[in-house]
Amino acid sequence: MKGIILAGGTGTRLHPITIGTSKQLLPVGDKPMIYYPLSVLMLAGVRDILLITNPADTARFTALLGDGSHLGLRLTYAEQDTPRGIADAILIGAEHIGDGPVALILGDNIFHGTSFSETLAANARDVRGCVLFGYPVNDPQRYGVGETDADGVLVGLQEKPERPRSNRAITGLYLYDNDVVDIAKNLRPSARGELEITDVNRVYLERGLARLVDLGRGFAWLDTGTPESLLQAGQYVRTLEERQGVRIACLEEIALRLGLIDADACHRLGSRMAASGYGQYVISIAAELR
Ligand code: DAU
Repeated sequence: MKGIILAGGTGTRLHPITIGTSKQLLPVGDKPMIYYPLSVLMLAGVRDILLITNPADTARFTALLGDGSHLGLRLTYAEQDTPRGIADAILIGAEHIGDGPVALILGDNIFHGTSFSETLAANARDVRGCVLFGYPVNDPQRYGVGETDADGVLVGLQEKPERPRSNRAITGLYLYDNDVVDIAKNLRPSARGELEITDVNRVYLERGLARLVDLGRGFAWLDTGTPESLLQAGQYVRTLEERQGVRIACLEEIALRLGLIDADACHRLGSRMAASGYGQYVISIAAELR
């Protein structure tokens, strides 16, 4: 399965912070935001990932993540010159997707919870149609909202509804079979001029091929859209990390645990950042798993 991270957009709700830099490079805890969605794709078993950014930010993302080979990944880059909608990522990534399935994730979505790796791996296998992930929120008006039948098949979908029919927000992680490319090519822009991901999902719904997997209440899906929520996300991450002594979304640790790199390589990566707590953690993990 190929992967796409959509990390463009204007981040206007975070101005002036995001005037000079990309939102998805801002810190959440002690690491850049983009580490979180990248770790999700790694845990889902995806190794070949296209990162879509604003033209002004490509060089910064490349400086941070390179070609991904140090993590056992293949990372390539594409630009979105203006925010044409989330579904535009499928058009930009059509060649990258090729003739197989794809996992699309928004570069500002943070997921954390027990058994998430298992949930991801189980759902990323043999995707037929699309798989969406639902999360209960108290402000569903701000999101895509879904309803399912007893078997988890999506039967209702609304985008930022005034009167939501459920409290299950559709998160920014989408698994699609290869039909998504044709579906995206046939989309019309919405009233706000964007290619809406909800319109893609609606086509799958009409075909009876959309599933909504509940992430449940023991799970954290964090928002990073405003200064307050960004700070809260960072505090959540740091609170857990300090209490448990483990790091969330430590890419080097994930790569090592998944067997994508060996302990020596992990140690070398940590040594380059040895002045930071993150770097020290990577070094300690390399020693522990040697
Ligand atoms: O976060 C989940 C929600 O994401 C879903 O529940 C909604 O159904 C979906 O429409 C989307 O809603 P948002 O209001 O969060 O979408 P937003 O336009 O803010 O874009 C989400 C991220 O994607 C944001 O970090 C910027 C990036 N983006 C967005 C667009 C429209 C791009 O990189 N390019 C784009 O063209």
